[in-house]
Amino acid sequence: MRLLLFGSPGAGKGTQGKILSERHGIPAVSTGDMLREEVRQKTDLGVVAAGYMSAGELLPDDIIIKLVRQRLSQPDAAEGWILDGFPRTVAQAKALDRMLAEHGLAPIDRVIYLEASPEVLEKRLGGRWTCPECGRVYSESVPTIVEDHCDDDGARVIQREDDKPEAVKHRLSLFRQSLPVLDYYRPEGRVLTIDAEQEVDAITDQIVADLQRNPGSRVGLGSRADGANA
Ligand code: AP5
Ligand code: MG
Repeated sequence: MRLLLFGSPGAGKGTQGKILSERHGIPAVSTGDMLREEVRQKTDLGVVAAGYMSAGELLPDDIIIKLVRQRLSQPDAAEGWILDGFPRTVAQAKALDRMLAEHGLAPIDRVIYLEASPEVLEKRLGGRWTCPECGRVYSESVPTIVEDHCDDDGARVIQREDDKPEAVKHRLSLFRQSLPVLDYYRPEGRVLTIDAEQEVDAITDQIVADLQRNPGSRVGLGSRADGANA
């Protein structure tokens, strides 16, 4: 199975990616998480990425495409993957198609578009706390057991630089520039739009139900999980 999780900052890509990865036993590949790890380790890429990320800007396509190409060639990605945060431009989508073709793989099965209003997204991002060591995410509804410290490794949780109000506003407006990616996939009927303002479990259930109903096939032009037209 090869899925794309597409959506605005705060739509729940990371949340759903983790759940689906555990359920299906395939890796969730988040370009944002990979870049944050590079920043944490102060690699050459990390030094370059930090400036773009804290300002909420997208990195150049060639850098991201190289990163994803390397990651998807790892053995654990052979049976499938869930991509979170890539592609964000049509150039990246075309590069992904080329990668699949080079490996003799069929096109991706589904693009899951998690859709939510800017008001909901701003609230979620403002209330998100992240472990700088392992990337685990906390919020009002998923608090740490020990105040401000990660349940897994005890590190003090922080607010991501790009979750500060100015960067959030910029990221939400920049997201509109990524919408042509949906138009790229829509003609092949691979986009499933889901109301991302629902509870986490309800969203997962809709994704899983759709995959069971339509494994590896079209979902219909601009399909919505709730049956309404997109
Ligand atoms: P990235 O890390 O991908 O950030 P993003 O797209 O802005 O998305 P977020 O991680 O902020 O949100 P999410 O959708 O994962 O939401 P989450 O599940 O955490 O990218 C960061 C940066 O890296 C970019 O700005 C760019 O600089 C660079 N980059 C990455 N990819 C790139 C690319 N392809 N090209 C160029 N540059 C790239 O949920 C958010 C919060 O809401 C959490 O607190 C969560 O608990 C909560 N929540 C989730 N779902 C629900 C729900 N259903 N109900 C209530 N709360 C919920
Ligand atoms: Mg994320």
